Amino acid sequence: MSTTNEIRRSFLDYFGSQGHEVVPSAPLVPYNDPTLMFTNAGMVPFKNVFTGLETRSTPRATSSQKCVRAGGKHNDLDNVGYTARHHTFFEMLGNFSFGDYFKEQAITHAWTLLTKEWGLPKDKLLATVYHTDDEAFALWQKIAGLPEERIIRIATKDNFWAMGDDGPCGPCSEIFFDHGPDIWGGPPGSKDEDGDRFIEIWNLVFMQFEQTAGEITGNLPKPSIDTGMGLERIAAVMQGEHDNYDTDTFRALIAASENLTGVKAEGENTASHRVIADHLRSTSFLLADGVLPSNEGRGYVLRRIMRRAMRHAHLLGAKEPLMHRLVPSLVVEMGQAYPELGRAQPLIEETLQREEVQFRRTLANGLKLLDEATAGLGEGGELPGETAFKLYDTFGFPYDLTEDALRARGISVDRAGFDSSMALQKAAARAAWKGSGEAAAGEVWFDIAERVGATEFTGYTATTGEAQVVALVKDGQEVSSVTAGDAVTVIVNQTPFYGESGGQTGDAGTITGANGLRIAVADTAKPLGRLHAHNGTVAAGSLAVGDVVKLDIDVERRDAIRANHSATHLLHEALRRRLGAHVTQKGSLVAADRLRFDFSQPTALTAEDIAAIEAEVNAEIRANEAVSTRLMTPDDAIAAGAMALFGEKYGDEVRVLSMGRQDGAKSYSVELCGGTHVRATGDIGLFRIVSESAVSSGVRRIEALTGEGAREWLVSREDALKATAGLLRTTPDDVETRVAALLDERRKLERELAEAKKALALGGGGAKGEAADEDVGGVKFSGQVLDGLDPKELRGLLDQAKQRMGSGVAAIVAVNEGKASIAAAVTEDLAGKVSAVDLVRAGVEALGGKGGGGRPDMAQGGGPDGEKAADAIAAVRAVLAG
Ligand code: ALA
Repeated sequence: MSTTNEIRRSFLDYFGSQGHEVVPSAPLVPYNDPTLMFTNAGMVPFKNVFTGLETRSTPRATSSQKCVRAGGKHNDLDNVGYTARHHTFFEMLGNFSFGDYFKEQAITHAWTLLTKEWGLPKDKLLATVYHTDDEAFALWQKIAGLPEERIIRIATKDNFWAMGDDGPCGPCSEIFFDHGPDIWGGPPGSKDEDGDRFIEIWNLVFMQFEQTAGEITGNLPKPSIDTGMGLERIAAVMQGEHDNYDTDTFRALIAASENLTGVKAEGENTASHRVIADHLRSTSFLLADGVLPSNEGRGYVLRRIMRRAMRHAHLLGAKEPLMHRLVPSLVVEMGQAYPELGRAQPLIEETLQREEVQFRRTLANGLKLLDEATAGLGEGGELPGETAFKLYDTFGFPYDLTEDALRARGISVDRAGFDSSMALQKAAARAAWKGSGEAAAGEVWFDIAERVGATEFTGYTATTGEAQVVALVKDGQEVSSVTAGDAVTVIVNQTPFYGESGGQTGDAGTITGANGLRIAVADTAKPLGRLHAHNGTVAAGSLAVGDVVKLDIDVERRDAIRANHSATHLLHEALRRRLGAHVTQKGSLVAADRLRFDFSQPTALTAEDIAAIEAEVNAEIRANEAVSTRLMTPDDAIAAGAMALFGEKYGDEVRVLSMGRQDGAKSYSVELCGGTHVRATGDIGLFRIVSESAVSSGVRRIEALTGEGAREWLVSREDALKATAGLLRTTPDDVETRVAALLDERRKLERELAEAKKALALGGGGAKGEAADEDVGGVKFSGQVLDGLDPKELRGLLDQAKQRMGSGVAAIVAVNEGKASIAAAVTEDLAGKVSAVDLVRAGVEALGGKGGGGRPDMAQGGGPDGEKAADAIAAVRAVLAG
């Protein structure tokens, strides 16, 4: 007996020896087809080769391709566990010819491998052909020698294979195995064909056409071959089993689940063990290929599969989470053929465990509600849709899980009622939103979100990807197409573009497509928190809803955003460590060119604080530790020490970002965050705080730069310093001493200048009035006009004059830049006879000014009219003369 692993190997070896390139399985998330949820056939990775869009160096290939059929066109989820051959995950063995051989060789290869290499009895095999395909009919006669009654013409789409509504397709020929008369069933095309006796094992597709939206739109460049054989089915045949779940791989997985639950796979428990074994495979492989449980798109399908398995684990009486403990057995069975499984084992186990812990919290209550609601129902009864909706909404029971839970009791679910409850809830959300007073134009987002669901975000790992356009909005209205020059918002089913949220700026980039389409995306918003809205302008070409486009984010810009976002986390932690745990985030902006962080803090930061914080962040950057992201429940995250924002609403699970050096089990910074981050802190490059200021009372703001922005900022500072050094004819190092010396020199020169001016005013040609003492009404008087005298010198000069005169009155006018200051002094012996204030007032008036003041022995004032200096002296003289 061959094991499943041996059969896979033998298939690939056979076709390898027949000139086929042995190609490893492509990931379950198709990278080349945005219209497909999961890889659902072996030909998916080669789709563009069939249509001629891509070429390969070899015209023949063979593979064992991982497939998931649990969403989209091919969906087998509901049947799994209750039939012998349905799986959510299976492996498809295939051989492919890209314009090389066609029908004859395809049939020859299939027949040779089955009957000669593997020795299957010829009389147990029969074939079907598309009803009009006489050529294939004749080839089966010629190559296999099959009698006419074992070549069956089928007119239905069973013998016309298509990958989906779009893509290559063609008539096919299926090979069936007869499990013998002990099992009920008739050959294909007969009325008993649904029985289990005749089982399809291999489908040979004669790829000839290409279809769009379900209609054949053209011929492929060259007739080609695509074949698909379910490994699980052929293993059953070769191992003498009728049921896929009795093959070696499934037996091992079921044995593991029997062991852990202590419940035998017998009677009514059989289905549960099968569900668990099957779903363990699909969920583990999906996780290994990067899908994570979520409430949208692929992530939601994964979650549905997981929860279905977890309910069955509960049904078997498992008291503890079960699924993650089965992963080692799966790795033993399949890890060699698929090394990604072993590599992702920790992630798979952790995710399954978290999901099961989380789901078990509500599972029991949900099942209780379900029991109560169905207590009076017997076989043929129907659960009200409203109850199914409550289970979905409150207890996280996907619709199909409720259906599955009631299946054994023959109770169905009112789907229409479920849908209308869902619609009611959506209408209520819309009404609540309208009431919130936001712009009415935003209602278009509700229409779109209801119709197409949330946009799947692929940008945590990808910067580029393909997608299908699901809506276009122009001038606030939905439109079916746009052309060059239009300003448009594009909504697609999946995107690497981050939509602005949580302070992080949305991505910019380009959308390109057929017919030269090019849209420059300026930014991405996130209306309703669910849709990624790419805002841009159609630069060339045109675009319609349904088109497939390529999305490329501006990677350099995003890298700068990543650096700023990660630096914000490090800054937050550095602030807390330096200033205290009262520091909490009050607002944040993460743009490409800078970051801004507002935080609670009563007083301004000192220069030392800022320097220390900046140094600490840079030390973490240089440590260059990898940044890790984990999904957790909010409670677990907070228990693990993650900083969470109070008052923020978190979903079922949160992303927990850990970065910086480890201290014990905890990284330097642990924070809940939905944003995009660097791979390792070293990617930030450099961190520089450029300002610290107050925003409002108790809230401070730091603005900072990272990476290239920080470098440019520093360079511009240094350039300025160099230019300054050049002007000073020195080096940057000596600028400080040079400037200090210059300032000293300047102070000295100013002093000297003042001295010189004074000397000049007193002794040089500056005197306009006579300095000689005169006698005015019996009082000695000295009146002088001094050009350029600093008014500060007036008092000193008048004191000198008083001394010189012994008894008398002195007045000086200092003229500077057209204006004049006047001061007068009276010696003590004349006090009571003459007042300096009166004298100055008269002088000020002559100078066109007003007032003037001081004491009777010394007063001062000024006026705008410097030309009248001599008149001012004359006015003083006149007052003195009485
Ligand atoms: N692509 C074909 C199938 O999936 C072989 O059946």
